Amino acid sequence: MASIVIKNWDNKTWLSSQDYINQFNKFLLKNIKLDSNSIILDIGCGRGKILGNLKSKLKLRTKPFGIDIINHKDKDKRINFNKTNALKFFNKNKHKFDLILIKQTIHLLNLDEIKRLLKIIKKRLTPRGKIFIFSLDTDKNEIPVFKLMKSRLSKSLIRDKKILDVIVKSNPQIIKKKFIYKVKIAKKKYLNMIQNRYISTLLTFTKEELSTGLRELNLKYGKDIRFKDKLICIILQNSFK
Ligand SMILES: C[S@@+](CC[C@H](N)C(=O)[O-])C[C@H]1O[C@@H](n2cnc3c(N)ncnc32)[C@H](O)[C@@H]1O
Repeated sequence: MASIVIKNWDNKTWLSSQDYINQFNKFLLKNIKLDSNSIILDIGCGRGKILGNLKSKLKLRTKPFGIDIINHKDKDKRINFNKTNALKFFNKNKHKFDLILIKQTIHLLNLDEIKRLLKIIKKRLTPRGKIFIFSLDTDKNEIPVFKLMKSRLSKSLIRDKKILDVIVKSNPQIIKKKFIYKVKIAKKKYLNMIQNRYISTLLTFTKEELSTGLRELNLKYGKDIRFKDKLICIILQNSFK
């Protein structure tokens, strides 16, 4: 299983803001009917803020399950957290889920792991259960990048596109949607996110490459940076209904 360590993804960024989480969960609930009895799982949940918000919003009776290979000290208390990798979890946990969420995590697994994981989770849905997979928009994303970051991100997006194509081809009943969030962030804060390597593309950069990139972005933008954070969402329904 891939062991990419992303520590600063949802660490005080727009991705952990109350507004982002509210809008994200509004999008989810528009596309799936859930109530206080729903059983929910988030694979690669990070600090679990999306799940925590769903717990309160839906008054869930069962704490939502979140799994991640990193156990953050400041994770949400409203979730049932398991520090494990995606595939191992299902040996121990025997629940069936109404919603299985995989948000901006699938690209961190290799293709073989993805196929195995999908095979397992499709069997772990309740009759009305759905799997939601979110991934960066591979064609139209606007993530602010410096030159070297752009070329590496483009390469990883080509791989993401292949992954999504494989999933779509093997699941003909898939529904495709987009989740778009308008970001306004102080340049200083965004540069700090880059410095903290918030996105997996940045993990392999040398310190020098990162410093050059930061200088480049500093020149390119004014005080605030505005862009649209665009995600593709694919929804798999339970085919055994
Ligand atoms: C880009 S972050 C997304 C976090 C969260 N889903 C969100 O969108 O805010 C990817 C997360 O997947 C986790 N992860 C990576 N490989 C994993 C694996 N094999 N099993 C479970 N989680 C994994 C990382 O530790 C990280 O927290």
